[in-house]
Amino acid sequence: MLDVLIKNARLVDGTGAPWFCGNIAVLGERIAALGQVDEPARRVIDAAGRVVAPGFIDAHSHSDDALFKNPQAESKVRQGVTTEVIGQCGSSAAPRTPSPDHTEPFASFAEYLDLLEARGIGVNVVPLVGHGNIRAVVMGFADRAATAEELEQMCRLTGAALQAGAHGLTTGLIYPPSSYGSHAEIIALAKVVASYGGLYASHMRNEREGLLASVAETIDVGRQAKLPVHISHHKVCGEQNFGLVKESLALVDAMRQTGVDVTLDQYPYTATSTGLKVVVPQWAHAGGTTAMGERVVDPSTRARIVGEILAGREQWDSILVSSCHKEQNKQFEGRTLAEISRLVGKEPIEACLDLLLDENFDVGMVRFAMCEADVEYVLQHPLVMIGSDATLRATYGPLSTGKPHPRAYGTFPRVLGTYVRERGVLRLEEAVRKMTSFPAQRFQLYDRGLLRPGAYADLVMFDPETVADLATYSEPHVYPRGIDMVLVNGAVVVENGAHSGTLPGKVLRRGRRGL
Ligand code: ZN
Ligand code: CU
Repeated sequence: MLDVLIKNARLVDGTGAPWFCGNIAVLGERIAALGQVDEPARRVIDAAGRVVAPGFIDAHSHSDDALFKNPQAESKVRQGVTTEVIGQCGSSAAPRTPSPDHTEPFASFAEYLDLLEARGIGVNVVPLVGHGNIRAVVMGFADRAATAEELEQMCRLTGAALQAGAHGLTTGLIYPPSSYGSHAEIIALAKVVASYGGLYASHMRNEREGLLASVAETIDVGRQAKLPVHISHHKVCGEQNFGLVKESLALVDAMRQTGVDVTLDQYPYTATSTGLKVVVPQWAHAGGTTAMGERVVDPSTRARIVGEILAGREQWDSILVSSCHKEQNKQFEGRTLAEISRLVGKEPIEACLDLLLDENFDVGMVRFAMCEADVEYVLQHPLVMIGSDATLRATYGPLSTGKPHPRAYGTFPRVLGTYVRERGVLRLEEAVRKMTSFPAQRFQLYDRGLLRPGAYADLVMFDPETVADLATYSEPHVYPRGIDMVLVNGAVVVENGAHSGTLPGKVLRRGRRGL
């Protein structure tokens, strides 16, 4: 007897091929049969008018720590996400030394993955290891080149993470301490990753006027270390740079012609999101937050910081503060720095630095920096998959605070609603490919991302006529519409807008099939 039989669905199988009518049978954790199958089942679901597709793979997620706070992974699974690729932008949960920012230090990558598994997770997780973590463990926030001995230690830690199951290494080359790593250091570590068959993913050094040089730098790591490379959240920021993504993608195409294996991901919004502290020049981060605080307070270093930020012609009315910790600063959430400056009666730059100081530099921001034409152009490129670039959230509990970027709730339904149905930017099947088989291939998940007998039953059922994101910049904590049902490893996790509470997710360690 089957466990689940979904009947009369439009099956979008993940390959990009046109949908076909049929039934899909689930037995245990896996897809048992497809097409005309009609056998007795414990549970029969009528999917008339609905699409059934492989569960979505969030190719770029920051849920590393949030999975402990909300193991159900609410804002992700309700979008149809069944697997998250974590450890992005140079930052993972492990390895990590104790600090006031983190209650759970993980001495090793293996320890982190074991704990994740022991606590239980509602989605599958593909772990990557962050270069920032590895550098911080060995060198702290030192703004200098690694010694030969330090480099050797970093290579050892990278190897240990890969051995524990990491699928690759990520850098965040605008984020200290990852940004303090030289090109040679990254290549040395990437060679270790290559020896385990992993990949290199990068939040590049420059996504503005220096975009093309950054793409070349990223690809050079792949060429020199001989491993696949992946460019994170591809975009170009700043009005004067709009259109540059045409050249960057042409460069990627040209490099692939020469044999470098490079792919990209993207989120479907024109605003970015990260920590507000990135506006502070890199050199001022050296030594960590305490040292940075001293530099922001000291009049001479503050003047230098102010001068450099102003020289960058920051658009204060396009930066929204998305999260603060202190009660008295919560009023600033959802407001631009231009507004905050008026509220506190200070120049925007002063309001910005004082808020950072008061919050020990832990302030979230959303920045409007891209244009729709570029978002659409990148989305249409066949080498681009979908990644939210978001930490999972929930409408209750510790992850329900602030005004986070709506991508945490809306990425996948937004592609299907806005870009497929409303604007016709992508075919439905191509959009699904970018969310399923393509990332599955990239992260070597050969038994996921496709509707195939024998594959894991990670499934999403949605209404192509109504699916839509409902989260906005002002009201981000809203689940999407039109996602009817989500199964992870054969178990129903979301049905009719409610989470079942089950935690059927697995840690998908590199090199271990299915486990
Ligand atoms: Zn990033
Ligand atoms: Cu990221």
